This record gives sequence, C-alpha cells and structure tokens, in this order.
Amino acid sequence: MNDLDSLLAAAESDFAAAQQGAELENAKARYLGRTGHLTELLKGLGALPPEEKKTRGAEINQAKAGIEALLTAARERLSRAELETQLRAEALDVTLPGRQRGMGGLHPVSRTIERIEAIFASMGFDVAEGPEIETDWMSFTALNNPENHPARSMQDTFYVDMKDAEGRWLNLRPHTSPMQVRYARMHAARYADEVSQGRQMPEVRVIAPGRVYRVDSDATHSPMFHQIEGLWLGENVSFKDLKVTFSAFVREFFETDDFDVRFRPSFFPFTEPSAEIDIRFGSGPLAGRWLEVAGSGQVHPNVVRSYNLDPETAIGFAFGMGADRMAMLRYGIDDLRLMFDGDLRFLSQFQ
Ligand code: DAH
Repeated sequence: MNDLDSLLAAAESDFAAAQQGAELENAKARYLGRTGHLTELLKGLGALPPEEKKTRGAEINQAKAGIEALLTAARERLSRAELETQLRAEALDVTLPGRQRGMGGLHPVSRTIERIEAIFASMGFDVAEGPEIETDWMSFTALNNPENHPARSMQDTFYVDMKDAEGRWLNLRPHTSPMQVRYARMHAARYADEVSQGRQMPEVRVIAPGRVYRVDSDATHSPMFHQIEGLWLGENVSFKDLKVTFSAFVREFFETDDFDVRFRPSFFPFTEPSAEIDIRFGSGPLAGRWLEVAGSGQVHPNVVRSYNLDPETAIGFAFGMGADRMAMLRYGIDDLRLMFDGDLRFLSQFQ
C-alpha cells in the first residue's frame, strides 16, 4: 500500500467514525483543509522534477477526489441517520386504537332520589338538603328523643369526637329527621313577621333526601345508606292526607294502580301516633307480600315546639323512607351491598 492508499484508508475510517456533522467536518479539515494532509502533499510537489511532478500530481488529485467522494458519502450517511432519528421521535402510530371514554351515568340510588324528588315536587313539596354531621340536639333532642334513649347509644350512632361551638356533641346523622327541624325552623323564621301581623303562615311541605349513618352492616344494612324525609305541616293536615299523598307517590313511583297501602301501628319518639307504611302489589314480581317502605306519623307537639312553631296551629305528618330500599324494589335488586360495591358490571345496567 503506498502513502496515498493508506491516506485514503485512514480518511475512510475517520469519516466512518464520525457520529455527528461537526466531527465529520473536523475530520475533513485534517485531510482537505488548508493545512490538511493532501494540501501539504500538493505543496510538496514544487520540489519534484517536472516528470515526477506530473505523475505524482495526478496521483494526489486522484486521491483527493477519492477522499471527497468518501466525504460526500459520509455526509449523506449522517444526514440520513439524523432524519431517521427525527422520524422515529415524531412517529405517530395511526393503527393504535383510540382511548374509549365511557359515557358514565347516574347511580341507581341517585336516579331513584331524583325520581322521588320530581314526584313530590309535582305535589308542591320543596326539596331541602342538610349536613351529614349533626349535633346531638338536632339528631335527637329536638326530635323528642329523651337523653337516655337507646338510639343515642354508641352501638347505633357514629359519634364525632368533637363538640360544636355551643358544646353539643356531634354525630353522623342516623336519620334525615333533623332536616324536619332545620327546614321548619327556617320556615318559621321566614314567616315570623307575617304571623305576628296576624297573617296565615304558608304550609310547610318539604322532602329531604340524603345520606345517613348507623353502626350496622350485613346483607340488608349498610353503615351508610340513604333516606328521604318528608314533612307536611298546615292548620289541619291529617293522616288521611298522608295516605292520599303517599298513595299518589307510590302510584307514580312504581307506575301502577295495582297496590294497597296500610298503616301499621308503630313507635317513634317524634310522632304520635306513629305508623309503618306498608305497600302490597296485586301483580308483578313482588305481588302479595306486604313491604315496609316508610316510617311515619303525626308530628309530636314537642317536635313542633322545636320547630319554633305552635303545636295548636301547626299540625301535620312526617315520614321517612329508605331510598336504597325504594331503588331495590323498583329495580328488583335483592342485596343492598350491590348498591355500594361500585362494580361497573352492576352499575352499567342502569345506564
Ligand atoms: N327517622 C326514622 C328512622 O330513621 C324514620 C321516620 C319515622 C321518619 C317516622 C319520620 C317519621 O319522619 O315520622 O327510622
């Protein structure tokens, strides 16, 4: 191998080693630059005799052309590699399936509550919501629940280890009944002026849906469940009105006329008399069985007093029903726990 061949070989491996444009241009300068190997060889020609100069010159020029060709090839290789890297970085896989986004939907209990709200709203009932952390006074005392009543015990009620500003213990409300008190007191305050001027107070008609909490958990009890409280107070609202109202509600809710309603005597501290409301369908999958759907009764005078109203002039009924139970009856669900497991295979059936 002569010196020009080895120069060519050296240039080839130098160019091949270059990973970047700048490295290649540095390598180029070492061969073709102003002080590069080839330039130096060409400068050396002057010292040769004329004959030799001609052949040597031709050889050097050929080597130079060879190095230039190698350089062009190396530049192309680098720019191809650069393009490839860029393409890879910006690659879009158009065959990748799009991300599915489920439509979502309302939980069967939410649907049920909305349905119940709409039915009672059509009968002139307001819808009210209130706090889930309640005072002892709202949950029990105002509802004529004596201090030593078993419902207050830790076995039944979740307590919050904290008192309110007035030193009253807080609990997770065990029922929506405190909303009777909150709403009726608000109503009494709103119309206090008119009543003191001898005018008639508008009736109280409200339902209050929401979460309630009890220390209880099995196939038919969950520590958190939903109730809907109802209250209708007027000058002379009676059990007859309760029966008519509740029957109208059942007819709308279950979309049937084929049922009976009965009041079964019961006890609640906040009502006197008190009754469980049972319904029995004449047809359909639930036909023939009495189903308990709500507690109810005529509001106790002591409770009317905690509304800041006069039990002589504010008379009416209250009821409380289990919203989860109403959803189960409507949709034919037999295990309460399904309602709170959050299993999409169950929930998606209601969309
Ligand atoms: N608060 C009762 C419970 O949780 C249900 C109830 C019964 C509500 C009678 C009422 C009522 O308003 O009048 O079991």
